[in-house]
Amino acid sequence: MASTSRPLLRALPRISHTVCAIRPSLITSTRATPRVICSQQRFSSDGSSTPAGKSADAPFLGTTRLPEFSLKDKVVLVSGGARGLGLTQAEALLEAGAIVYALDVLQEPSPGFHNIASRAEKELGTSLHYRQVDVRDVPNLNKTVSEIADKHGRLDGLIAAAGIQQETPALEYSAEDANRMFAVNITGVFMTAQAVAKQMIKFGNGGSIALIASMSGTIANRGLICPAYNASKAGVIQLGRNLASEWGEYNIRVNTISPGYIVTKMVENLFVEFPERQTEWPKQNMLGRLSAPKEYRGAGVFLISDASSFMTGSDLRIDGGHSSW
Ligand SMILES: NC(=O)c1ccc[n+]([C@@H]2O[C@H](COP(=O)([O-])OP(=O)(O)OC[C@H]3O[C@@H](n4cnc5c(N)ncnc54)[C@H](O)[C@@H]3O)[C@@H](O)[C@H]2O)c1
Repeated sequence: MASTSRPLLRALPRISHTVCAIRPSLITSTRATPRVICSQQRFSSDGSSTPAGKSADAPFLGTTRLPEFSLKDKVVLVSGGARGLGLTQAEALLEAGAIVYALDVLQEPSPGFHNIASRAEKELGTSLHYRQVDVRDVPNLNKTVSEIADKHGRLDGLIAAAGIQQETPALEYSAEDANRMFAVNITGVFMTAQAVAKQMIKFGNGGSIALIASMSGTIANRGLICPAYNASKAGVIQLGRNLASEWGEYNIRVNTISPGYIVTKMVENLFVEFPERQTEWPKQNMLGRLSAPKEYRGAGVFLISDASSFMTGSDLRIDGGHSSW
């Protein structure tokens, strides 16, 4: 049925609303008339508003827009943060305001690390630090984590991204190689989370932990033979649920992120050895392409910040629909 009011609505002029408020503190003025503070807001058709004089795409979001995503003054660790996905996560956490420590087995972080550290100091008003740690060396891991927490009097978050990959058919896998895989990808992640949780409990502020698992923790990859890696990532997903169930009482949340294929240095090297994968892998998901590390930035900040305050024991699978097919 046609609405008769439509032509009338179309004829109305666009209205710029003026929002006025009386500041109570100013009513105590000796003058009889209270000062009225008015600010002009433009309301757009989608209901959003922009304070007068400010451009909608102003670079600084301020402290009142989506404050639950802010990590200002929080101290967050990223294992495997020297390069790749871990370093990209570290930069996102810095942009959200956190002080970030990257822990990694490499003696020196990748060259890109130093650019991000300099950007943190000059542009973001925060800092990025590096500590060389092998996640299998539990005494050094605990020492490093407790020193960082003591220095700041708090520890608020962890993204555990340290991990290794090995492509070997199951019939040829040695026990030594399998144990190495599990030592880094499961026990290493477990001990890192434990070291961090101990400090979170000591300082009493709770915190949030995100473990980097993989879609390979749920599915077997077609054309990528890595049985121990995939078992290790299934272990990370199950570890996350169990840590969440034990540490909820301390207000520590634990979740996992399960990425699909990400084009990092590791994957680029594989494409040199197996060029057909570059065309085959993208066909295996619903978006027909592989992902970039930056496509996980939002997930990391979401999980570490209060934006996910009621989320724990969950797996966030981000794989272009690969494992939904
Ligand atoms: N690249 C992908 O397609 C993909 C997909 C899903 C999940 N992941 C996971 O994402 C995480 C990051 O992977 P990436 O692709 O950035 O690879 P990467 O090799 O660039 O990063 C892994 C980092 O972990 C560090 N590391 C390895 N062993 C360590 C140890 N014993 N102690 C401390 N640090 C150690 C490495 O030095 C490296 O900096 C890994 O857990 C990986 O399994 C990657």
